[in-house]
Amino acid sequence: MKSITDLDVGGRLVLLRADLNVPLDGTVITDDGRIKASLPTIGALAARGARVLTCAHLGRPSGGDYPARSAGGPSLRPVAERLGELLGRPVPLAADVAGPDAARLAGSLGDGDVALLENVRFEPAETSKDDARRAEVAGRLASLAALYVGDGFGALHRKHASVYDVPRLLPHAAGELVQSEVDVLRRLTENPERPYVVVLGGAKPSDKLAVIDNLLDKADRLIIGGGMSYTFLAAQGYEVGRSLLEPDQIGNVAGVLADAARRGVEIVLPVDLVGATAFTPDAAHDVYPADAFPADRESLDMGPRTRALFAAKLADAKTVFWNGPVGVFEFPAFAAGTRAVAKAISGVAGLTVVGGGDSAAAVRQLDFPDSAFSHISTGGGASLEFLEGKTLPGLAALGDDQ
Ligand code: 3PG
Ligand code: MG
Repeated sequence: MKSITDLDVGGRLVLLRADLNVPLDGTVITDDGRIKASLPTIGALAARGARVLTCAHLGRPSGGDYPARSAGGPSLRPVAERLGELLGRPVPLAADVAGPDAARLAGSLGDGDVALLENVRFEPAETSKDDARRAEVAGRLASLAALYVGDGFGALHRKHASVYDVPRLLPHAAGELVQSEVDVLRRLTENPERPYVVVLGGAKPSDKLAVIDNLLDKADRLIIGGGMSYTFLAAQGYEVGRSLLEPDQIGNVAGVLADAARRGVEIVLPVDLVGATAFTPDAAHDVYPADAFPADRESLDMGPRTRALFAAKLADAKTVFWNGPVGVFEFPAFAAGTRAVAKAISGVAGLTVVGGGDSAAAVRQLDFPDSAFSHISTGGGASLEFLEGKTLPGLAALGDDQ
């Protein structure tokens, strides 16, 4: 995989695919971590005199054609403004993705300038499964530039035109974020120091069973909390009340538990839960043992014995990967479990990796400095698929077969 220093970028138009898919509250950015993580590559390219035309997606625009999508948004306007603030100079935003205004903007750039194209998912073909449809929009994007740099780590698992097809049309390299993310994930997959403990949370086991299956060969201990843990508890025959549940996954989850036992991998599940009367920030709540949960309550967090158990199971770790909050941390009354996990991981002397937008947002919202962890990945799905051992389409296109 080539790096940006292998490209002669001075005075040339570089199409930079970044992942600027930030969480928004209306048009207000609630976590600008992905924009900040993109700055090293943008800065390095601009400092070397490249004309940096940045391409990114935001959210999942709906609508059958370009006009419907661009009318419905979201526009990258707030991202262009924040990027401009961070760079200390305005970042102009094209009114379209790969149309006349994008061409005009590309032609107006001087050496070292930085600009942004509109939300690439306004082009319906960007995410198409039809190779010919993606090729058409990829061709238009490529015609704007002389070189391509892929730095959108969080989107590398998507076989999308701007991620997968454009790099095949232009001389290309991987940006610094992609290089550093891949370096860290390799350390997790190749020769992790032991004990290697993985903490998985988030809503659904169905999203994570494949990674769990792969991790049973690699990790020494798997801590499972949050929304997905209720399906594991149900698979052991426990009542989970009105908690999140994927009933159709109970059989698969039971299979994973049996597999783990066979392979000697310890699976740590919650032993007590915080059961609330409703999914609201101020809902009445009590702590219940995991084997005596009431049918009319919904678990929104891990109980105190579980918090202590998870912390104890992290205490001797030398390598940790964490994906997914273990409670509804957005509600302060139900953030204790996620806070306990973050605190325990921040005390680990070894490689600690936090992966995924939700977990990254959680640690920042709970006021942990980024420096409390070795690495906060900008990619959730991308880092999980890497750990699953899948080939990421965007990485393959950059010339890395993992
Ligand atoms: C993400 O936020 O997961 C990445 O930016 C990819 O976005 P997507 O999940 O909408 O494809
Ligand atoms: Mg995603």
